[in-house]
Amino acid sequence: MATTLQGESLAVAPVKLEGLLSMKGGNGEASYVKNSQAQARHARSILHLLEATLDAVPLPEGDEHAFTVADLGCSCGNNTLFMVDVIVRHIAKRYELSGREAPEFQAFFSDLPSNDFNLLFQLLPPLTSFEGGSLGQCLAAAGGSRPYYAAGVPGSFYRHLFPERSVDFFYSAFSLH
Ligand SMILES: C[S@@+](CC[C@H](N)C(=O)[O-])C[C@H]1O[C@@H](n2cnc3c(N)ncnc32)[C@H](O)[C@@H]1O
Repeated sequence: MATTLQGESLAVAPVKLEGLLSMKGGNGEASYVKNSQAQARHARSILHLLEATLDAVPLPEGDEHAFTVADLGCSCGNNTLFMVDVIVRHIAKRYELSGREAPEFQAFFSDLPSNDFNLLFQLLPPLTSFEGGSLGQCLAAAGGSRPYYAAGVPGSFYRHLFPERSVDFFYSAFSLH
């Protein structure tokens, strides 16, 4: 792959490029977590489009598998946590409205291996306790916790990341370069 910097032609191997594209980790002044308000605003401004898209997603038959969401290019800030939460709650609501019991949920947070997954995992709220109530009741009471299992998936979204047919909904924002 070739790119140009100040008129010079540079050859950048895809693997090297993947190292360059990651956001700045940690929570210092220059970090992505402290400098991603513009992305947060834009993502919130298209929530109606996200919800319309989620309304068109077929709910899987049977509840033996967790409903699975993947965020490609999640980075390490709060934006991904906010959007995954919106997605899970919207799908759970659809199950409730259709009179079906919602399955468990899981989210895969995926980004390049150089992403600061440590920070992301530290920002994750604790898992909601589902004991002693319906999913609807638990979700309603789940402020400050997350109603889904979480895992990080390192790798480029230009390669295989997941087994076939294992993800029900993909989300990706501000990540295509
Ligand atoms: C501007 S951040 C967006 C983060 C988050 N989606 C948000 O809305 O705040 C772009 C992210 O895309 C990731 N990214 C860029 N190219 C990628 C690729 N080929 N595979 C996976 N992630 C990639 C970067 O590492 C970075 O974390």
